[in-house]
Amino acid sequence: MSRVLSVASGKGGVGKTTVVSNLGAILTEAGKNVTLVDGNLTTPNLSLHLGIPLYPVTLHDVLKNNAIMPEAMYVHPSGVKVVPSGLGIGDMEGTDSRYLPVAIQELFGETEMVLLDTPAGLGQETISNLEASDELILVTQPNMPSLTDVLKTKNLAEDMGVDVIGAVINHHTGSREELNEEEVSEMLDGIPVLSKIPYDKKVPEAVAMKKPVVHHDPHTPASHALRELASKVTSEDLNIEYKRGGILSRLSRIFRS
Ligand SMILES: Nc1ncnc2c1ncn2[C@@H]1O[C@H](COP(=O)(O)OP(=O)(O)OP(=O)(O)O)[C@@H](O)[C@H]1O
Ligand SMILES: [Mg+2]
Repeated sequence: MSRVLSVASGKGGVGKTTVVSNLGAILTEAGKNVTLVDGNLTTPNLSLHLGIPLYPVTLHDVLKNNAIMPEAMYVHPSGVKVVPSGLGIGDMEGTDSRYLPVAIQELFGETEMVLLDTPAGLGQETISNLEASDELILVTQPNMPSLTDVLKTKNLAEDMGVDVIGAVINHHTGSREELNEEEVSEMLDGIPVLSKIPYDKKVPEAVAMKKPVVHHDPHTPASHALRELASKVTSEDLNIEYKRGGILSRLSRIFRS
């Protein structure tokens, strides 16, 4: 059995794919056998964040029973394993998201952990992603509209028996109108805030470069926050080398490689 962890938000555009692609990059670099799956079937964007948009076989083919999961699995140049969804509008034709939990099970034995990038909203596609998951990380921005949507997602997931391990506050700027960590946690019935990722212009820059930000700029504040998040997920300190500081840690990595 693999650990299946999904990342969801309710609201769109809050940072789910950013969290999934970077967690994948960090955990792969730490030697974990992780596979990222783009469970966002209608508006997929994981492969766009990683810069290989055209795959011959995708999750859509698996859900249409035209392929098996290992055939839709690719190794990104960064070493991250990815099961992408098809980007064409026609890919949805004949696709039934309700087979997603079975498809995910085909990865058991191939991978230690599956990270599922889920769609926005609370429709069947999201339900299928949650059905496939053991655990869930919620992503919210520090404002009420985002938080109310994430609360609905949390309640739905809990009703389905998914273990909601915590929330990530993304796009944190420190401005006075923002909800703070305590308010977010309280509104989510005490679910812990695992990480506060700052608004960081290196993140969209990394998407434009088609790389996870932790590879684009490992020392930018968002990269530190994402490694802190990965540390919470694995209960291992995966940020220690970077916390020790720029030049020395870079030199030590060069000498070890
Ligand atoms: N911490 C951040 N700082 C600055 N920009 C960010 C940050 N996190 C995400 N972004 C930007 O916000 C946009 C949306 O992020 P992302 O695609 O990860 O959201 P999403 O929740 O997956 O969206 P969707 O619901 O459409 O799938 C992207 O352009 C990304 O570069
Ligand atoms: Mg996304």
